[in-house]
Amino acid sequence: MLDARLAPLIFHQGSHQVPSITFSFSMELRVKRAPRIDIEITVPGDKSISHRAVIIAALSNGPCTLRGFLPSEDCMHTVNAMRTLGVKIEQPEPTTLVVHGKRRVLTAPKDEINCGNSGTTMRLLAGLLAGQSFETRLVGDAGLSRRPMDRVIAPLCEMGASIVAEGPDGTAPLRILGGSLRGIHYRPPVASAQVKGALLLAGLFARGKTTVEEAVPTRNHMEKILNYFLVRTAVEDHGSITVFGDQVPESRDFAIPGDISSAAFWLVAAAAQPRGHLLIRDVGLNDTRTALLAVLLRMGAQVREAVEDIDQLEPRGIVEVTGSTLKATVIHGKEVPQLIDELPILSVAGAMARGKTIIRQAGELRVKETDRIAAIAHNLRTMGVHVAELTDGLEIHGPAPLHGARVASFGDHRIAMAFAIAGLFADGETVVQDAECIRESYPGFEMVLEEFTNLKRMQVSTRVIGSLTPTAPETS
Ligand code: S3P
Repeated sequence: MLDARLAPLIFHQGSHQVPSITFSFSMELRVKRAPRIDIEITVPGDKSISHRAVIIAALSNGPCTLRGFLPSEDCMHTVNAMRTLGVKIEQPEPTTLVVHGKRRVLTAPKDEINCGNSGTTMRLLAGLLAGQSFETRLVGDAGLSRRPMDRVIAPLCEMGASIVAEGPDGTAPLRILGGSLRGIHYRPPVASAQVKGALLLAGLFARGKTTVEEAVPTRNHMEKILNYFLVRTAVEDHGSITVFGDQVPESRDFAIPGDISSAAFWLVAAAAQPRGHLLIRDVGLNDTRTALLAVLLRMGAQVREAVEDIDQLEPRGIVEVTGSTLKATVIHGKEVPQLIDELPILSVAGAMARGKTIIRQAGELRVKETDRIAAIAHNLRTMGVHVAELTDGLEIHGPAPLHGARVASFGDHRIAMAFAIAGLFADGETVVQDAECIRESYPGFEMVLEEFTNLKRMQVSTRVIGSLTPTAPETS
């Protein structure tokens, strides 16, 4: 089995030559058509959980060992930020952190904090720093400095923080002067787990209670981690989560499952190849993250999942996919926030599916690491697909014979990986330019890609104990 936990050890800067893929200093990823897929893999740790785990562990009252941590560039920005705030964090192995919780006592950083390209780092830290009695400046790279931050600035200021966006239109750098916060009841105008996470972190330092009421549910990792660290919260049926202020998280160890958003690339590859077969072990199966599986199922793939460990903080287990000739689908409504990161690869699936795949109400894609709607449309067209770009989504006409081409990453890790997968189904060679951004979320991606183009491996028979039944798309 290809074990992703080893990948971060092997993934490094420089030229890595393998027979059918080249990953070089110019950071181009060259991909050829895949032979029949039949493989078992694991994927690296969950990115969203890794960010949150480091922050909550740092606020706790003692040492916490986090295993299965994702040592990607984005998550390491969060680790380094917490170190800058005076928290001792050891990394005895790439995927193991020992975080020495400081009972919520952070120290003023000597310098500004660099969030790199990581929106999650910047938004969660904004929430955390809003409650500190010192001033901090958060900076990001050019891409992050274009992304909207007003969505966290407005509610945090309502709680009593003073935050100045130094960039145009509410963008970074952010100068944050924290202070004494009061809890609020907030209904975010956009569905965003980052906004929810920021407010819950600020709420930990606020007087009274802080409630986030979501019209459309987003990933619930922050709530789960707070509960696991014995922080008192209340969840109500109509979709609101409350945290009570002035609590110290109780230090705990835990293991982070594999990231289903990273698994998504391989799941789509197997699903789109008739009789392709893939089994992924030890992957997170939190039901606020698994909407992708339901979509693949209604597109015609066979999908089975088995939750193997429900006692842990996050459900984890096995996903198995057997491919078929896919059919088009419609993705909109409440499903969108629950597979927002999977929409680039699902667009590639749409190009291979029979009929018109429609993605709507996904305007948030325009403010991700790049404008993902424009990037997907551009690259699909370059590969020969008929696609219409909508204000809030895409219409993709399939099945299209994909032509190998030079495609751009637009500096966006998920665009780079989605089009590397498209290359597995294209005639000739596909070159993904500027692929170094993949390191932000998936160190070792190119090694797994090599396995997919060079398959000679492994038949594993595993008992899978649960299965899904197709559901109709949202009708909202
Ligand atoms: C994330 C939430 C999502 C997602 C991002 C990670 C998180 O963003 O796109 O990759 O960890 O909270 P929004 O919920 O802000 O849309």
